[in-house]
Amino acid sequence: MSILIKNGKVVTPSEISVADVLIEGEKISAIGDNLNANVDHVIDAKGLLVMPGGIDPHVHLDMPFMGTFSSDDYTSGTTAALFGGTTMLIDFVLQTQGKSLDHALKQWQGRSNGKACCDYSFHMAVTDFNESTKEEIKVMIEKEGITSFKTFMAYKGALMIDDRQMVGLMNEVKRNGGMVTVHATNGDMIDYLIAKHREEGKLTPLYHYLSQPEITEAEASGRFSDMAFNTGVPAYIVHMTCEGAHNHVRLAAMRNQKVFAETCIQYLILDASLYDKNFDGAKWVMSPPLREKKDQESLWAGINQGSIQVVATDHCPFKWEQKLMGKDDFSKIPNGHPAIEHRMELLFSEGVNKGKITLNKFVEVASTNAAKIFGMFPQKGCLAPGSDADVIIFDPNEEHILSAKTHHMNVDYSSYEGWKMKGKTKTVIMRGKVAVDNNTFKLDPGYGKFVKRNKVSGII
Ligand code: URP
Ligand code: ZN
Ligand code: ZN
Repeated sequence: MSILIKNGKVVTPSEISVADVLIEGEKISAIGDNLNANVDHVIDAKGLLVMPGGIDPHVHLDMPFMGTFSSDDYTSGTTAALFGGTTMLIDFVLQTQGKSLDHALKQWQGRSNGKACCDYSFHMAVTDFNESTKEEIKVMIEKEGITSFKTFMAYKGALMIDDRQMVGLMNEVKRNGGMVTVHATNGDMIDYLIAKHREEGKLTPLYHYLSQPEITEAEASGRFSDMAFNTGVPAYIVHMTCEGAHNHVRLAAMRNQKVFAETCIQYLILDASLYDKNFDGAKWVMSPPLREKKDQESLWAGINQGSIQVVATDHCPFKWEQKLMGKDDFSKIPNGHPAIEHRMELLFSEGVNKGKITLNKFVEVASTNAAKIFGMFPQKGCLAPGSDADVIIFDPNEEHILSAKTHHMNVDYSSYEGWKMKGKTKTVIMRGKVAVDNNTFKLDPGYGKFVKRNKVSGII
């Protein structure tokens, strides 16, 4: 199969120019002016943007969590991702405490094998670091191509590790060429505040928010950065939401340390006033919670200043009946929100169109930086000869409205119901095959492949 995309505006992190893109098999073979080739398919992209497929390095598909499973499996989640222009995901394998990393990996392979439509990889979440887990780190990196290790400083009693385990893991990961990533919030403080609110009979979703104040995230982000500084491990903070945490990343930079930071689309555009809506606020019960307007300003500034490199989703959808598990107690509402399909279009509509970021920055934070940080560049996140032909053709002017009636995620509400958008993904090419063409889906489950990643240096 060969495809020639003609006359589009090709966007990379550093350039925008009108050019043609030639795809042969699964790879881009040429980019240039007036390319002519005898191809199977020509796409006229005049007036449209041609960009690398999006990379969302933070999703949870079919994940067992809080007594239920996230409602998108590998087929529905990757289909929805492709509709929105995301061609590569990184999901999280969760070690069960007391069991091996390999045991968890086999579970996730069972859930994903033969089911994905777009490409994907795994981070390994280490929830129990001990002598035998230590032995497995090298195997994950060298044999499985899993080079990033996620830690939780919260979810006490389920996923959280203590600081002794954290530094032990950091040393082992550093020795083997990997990266440690973190859900950075203070689990003990949060545990205390949840118990206090429950004792006081404060049980609505608002108290989910009030149980995780900014300081819980700022403190843990600082502590994590200090431990990473001490061990020298490449470090990455996932789903950063607030100014206090962001300032710790900036402080790390002041001592010449690089701590990578990811925020998620919802933290840039939604705020905590949504928790005032009684139980409806459960739609936005996620951890960390939505924050304040001043935090949004800090996050947009961080993207432009380069202290925040990635905009992900932390896609973790639950249907309304699952959210109702916590109708009488906020602490039982499954944490998470659906966004895998809308990340790119929301970032474009709210970010590029409203003058908050440039188009080049959009490509950087929605695609290229994640490929570089997580050891996939230039295979992914890149429009260049030799790279995987993961390409989106995007109409910057098309207006549309988000709704649960039209989205493709397996969830019966939209956290963005009625949002008016400008900018739409029109065609998506996934490793050389047309995946989405004008709202029609063309791939079969199983086309998506597991991507083994390279070691990481902590420099991009
Ligand atoms: O609320 C969230 N974020 N759910 C998914 C698990 C996590 O903490 O990333
Ligand atoms: Zn988290
Ligand atoms: Zn997450």
